[in-house]
Amino acid sequence: MSNKKTFTLTDNASGESWELPVMHGSLGPDVIDVRKLYAQTGCFTYDPGFTSTGSCESKITYIDGDKGVLLYRGYPIEQLAANSDFMETCYLLLYGELPSAKEKTGFEHDITYHTMIHEQMQTFLRGFRRDAHPMAVMCGMVGALAAFYHDSTDISDPKHRMVSSYRMIAKMPTIAALAYKYNLGQPYVYPKNTHGYAENFLHMLFSNPCEEYVIDPVLAKAMDVILILHADHEQNASTSTVRLAGSSGANPFACISAGIASLWGPAHGGANEAVLEMLEEIGSAKNIPKFIEKAKDKDDPFRLMGFGHRVYKNFDPRARVMREQCHNVLDALGVHDEPLLEIALELEKIALEDPYFIEKKLYPNVDFYSGIIFKAMGIPTTMFTALFAVARTVGWIAQWNEMIEDPSQKIGRPRQLFTGAEQRDYADLSKR
Ligand code: CMC
Repeated sequence: MSNKKTFTLTDNASGESWELPVMHGSLGPDVIDVRKLYAQTGCFTYDPGFTSTGSCESKITYIDGDKGVLLYRGYPIEQLAANSDFMETCYLLLYGELPSAKEKTGFEHDITYHTMIHEQMQTFLRGFRRDAHPMAVMCGMVGALAAFYHDSTDISDPKHRMVSSYRMIAKMPTIAALAYKYNLGQPYVYPKNTHGYAENFLHMLFSNPCEEYVIDPVLAKAMDVILILHADHEQNASTSTVRLAGSSGANPFACISAGIASLWGPAHGGANEAVLEMLEEIGSAKNIPKFIEKAKDKDDPFRLMGFGHRVYKNFDPRARVMREQCHNVLDALGVHDEPLLEIALELEKIALEDPYFIEKKLYPNVDFYSGIIFKAMGIPTTMFTALFAVARTVGWIAQWNEMIEDPSQKIGRPRQLFTGAEQRDYADLSKR
């Protein structure tokens, strides 16, 4: 929405000036509307990393990085983690309101009855090497859903969009578990409709045809909370990737596959895996000071994985909830003497007291604790980011749907500052 406030942009050389309209949302800073800037001034804006650029209008998730606030459709993440469950949170993100009891039951039923994947996808899976990274399998399998479910890829039809959205939320844990079982060389475990979403995921990861996995309610609760905490995070790299891919009219399965690819990077969802790799590299609590020094050294590219955040500059509210879950899981499993966990807890303590980390506002983020919980649960490191992808799918889908329904939506097409060669004539090979 625009208001009467404007910004004046002046070209000091010519003295010419332009009024730039200002828009304001329901929460958060005002934004300067630069949509007509090029037409009026002949200039583009320059903002690599989009640190000052809003790319869309959204009603889904709000973050106040200075205050450590994260709201899904207005509800604080702490309240959702304490009182809600992942299915209800999915409904909230997709539809904008918490469901009634009847709506909740109906939604859970619909998701549950979409959890199986087309049997032929198992043949497709067998084309991957056994040692393939689960995220590589996820990118491929989710993209391939468009080939198996092309009856729901007409993005102009709201029913198609709804069916493909439900399919992806329902099938993502099945695909992630399949990638894991394939890597292990174990048979694929079918989803079980009597289980809830988080329980079913644990069942598919840890049961096998010879032995049913007994689900510990503390672990199922922790998994559910992890899913809630990771469900959406406004315009982060993977969500922006999904929106950008979708802006061309690409089908939803292709868009979510693009989001998975973006999430894979160690600066984003890959950080939970990188945390564990870093803890292994540290090896012992006595080596922590050496690694802290490396992280502080400007000439050393090493960073403490699981610390810092682009938006949260005081604390990550998800990390606070996750820390609590982390202790619940460690207590339930009685794994306090696990060396990597000991290193993690010692590292957290030392970094929180170190002036460098305090000054730069680098706090443990959600991925620091999720890595520790997954490790304690017995989930292998390479699966960590795949679990993040399972949780974030609903956020990607809610944002993708919002974009398709936005009448002002255009194909995403950033501009550039060109610094390459100016126009020149082609020289024949003999003259070079
Ligand atoms: N260890 C050591 N120094 C750091 C770290 C770190 N983890 N993070 C940032 N810094 C320093 C950085 O060197 C820079 O110092 P200076 O101002 O002297 O140049 C300063 O802090 C600001 O860093 P930045 O790179 O400009 O900050 P950013 O907002 O671009 O990066 C980040 C945010 C998350 C990519 C970064 O903090 C990082 O690489 N952290 C480790 C990876 C990680 O844990 N990522 C998960 C993020 S949470 C999950 C998610 O939402 O995807």
